[in-house]
Amino acid sequence: MAQKVQGTEDLYGGYMRAWQYMQAVAHELFDTYGFDMIETPALEQVDTFVHGIGESTDVVRKEMFRVISGALFEKLLGDGSEKSLKPRQRLAMRPEGTAGVVRAVVENNLVPQGSSPAKLWYAESMFRGERPQKGRLRQFHQVGLEWLGAPDPAADAECIIILMEFYHRLGFDMSKLRLYINSMGDSHCRPAYREKVKQFIYDHKDEMCADCLERAELNPLRSFDCKNERCHEVMKSAPLISDNLCEDCAEHYAQVKAYLDAAGISYVEDPTLVRGLDYYTRTVFEVEVVNVDDVGAIGGGGRYDGLVELEGGKPTPGIGFAVGFERIALALAAQGVDLAGDEPTCVYVACAAPEQRSAVFDATLTLRDAGLRVEADYQGRSLKSQFKQADKLHALVCVVIGADEVTNNTYTLRDMNTHEQISVAKDNLVDEVIKLMYGAEFIDI
Ligand code: HAM
Repeated sequence: MAQKVQGTEDLYGGYMRAWQYMQAVAHELFDTYGFDMIETPALEQVDTFVHGIGESTDVVRKEMFRVISGALFEKLLGDGSEKSLKPRQRLAMRPEGTAGVVRAVVENNLVPQGSSPAKLWYAESMFRGERPQKGRLRQFHQVGLEWLGAPDPAADAECIIILMEFYHRLGFDMSKLRLYINSMGDSHCRPAYREKVKQFIYDHKDEMCADCLERAELNPLRSFDCKNERCHEVMKSAPLISDNLCEDCAEHYAQVKAYLDAAGISYVEDPTLVRGLDYYTRTVFEVEVVNVDDVGAIGGGGRYDGLVELEGGKPTPGIGFAVGFERIALALAAQGVDLAGDEPTCVYVACAAPEQRSAVFDATLTLRDAGLRVEADYQGRSLKSQFKQADKLHALVCVVIGADEVTNNTYTLRDMNTHEQISVAKDNLVDEVIKLMYGAEFIDI
């Protein structure tokens, strides 16, 4: 039997309804903040991610799925290496949404100089070659938003407010969420801080793992996230970014916190929160759920004031966040919330005998024209088994059509809850079905 790739999932039934519900909640909320939807290609040039996310990050070095056409694959097997490919031939599946959206903003000139900011949101599959485990997939789904052209610390605070309101609308018990925030500084203060952390790791090289020694060279701040217990312990006394921010970054961070306080958003300051993507500057944030094991962060984001330039555009500030659908579904399930909601209901048109098949066909068209979800039998079942099927499909009403109904220009409507039946005139079908399904007040809307 053919099998799906490890760490990927089929979305259907209740799980698909949950994903659609999450997108609907996002659409309604993000719209009130003026965000429009964007879809960028799942395939981008490798350079889009290398420039943006950073060459030394795990996401780019280890997790990004590279894609190659059959023809190029054969060429590489024959004589070359990846280096022999042109940049436009080096492709990857997007591991996250921000770099692609920023590439699209630059390429389509969506923030021309002096214009209003671009505010874009997305709901897309992302791909990361991680070791699959609970809440960690190789293809997963993110809802995210990106706001380009807004340097004001109020934008940082609004992003966080939108994120927390999103969780609230999805049904989270907000007392169980922890919002962690930090400022990562900018190109003025971070390089010197990075050097300090690098030096700190070298000063403790006998106590740190081999990965951290490699990180010291490439990306020393990642050592704050090392899973090794001993490294974790040592890093507790490493220099903190909060003591090393330049005046502008410190002021920006103070204003973000003041806006959050004014909005009544509670947060935990974590000066070791560094995030796994290199493009961040200043504000970063992440949300976790307490009392749910192994789910990991259910969302995160931050400011990236240098990314547009890295993707070849003019200096333009940016900020955004993304949340993971699968982790949110897991965390909500642990809180007893099922995003899938109820199974959809329908009206079932039952056929007493083959002679009435065309009358059934007509009735289904009429009901569907009225916007109802309509099911019927397409396998020649007996009337009894059609009723059974109607139950399985959560039909609220069955329209029964036999020889008498055709002769008298009527339909028999069966209430699937009470099993009571009434006869209605053919012309009144839609109104009578709606009345039975939803009540008289729903007619004509
Ligand atoms: P991220 O923290 O890498 O940020 O991912 C955001 C969310 O995606 C995570 O908090 C988590 O819920 C989910 N996620 C990440 N990896 C996996 C995985 N392997 N399996 C399941 N869920 C996962 C970003 O992607 C940034 N682009 C966010 C951002 C937008 N920053 C600024 N704008």
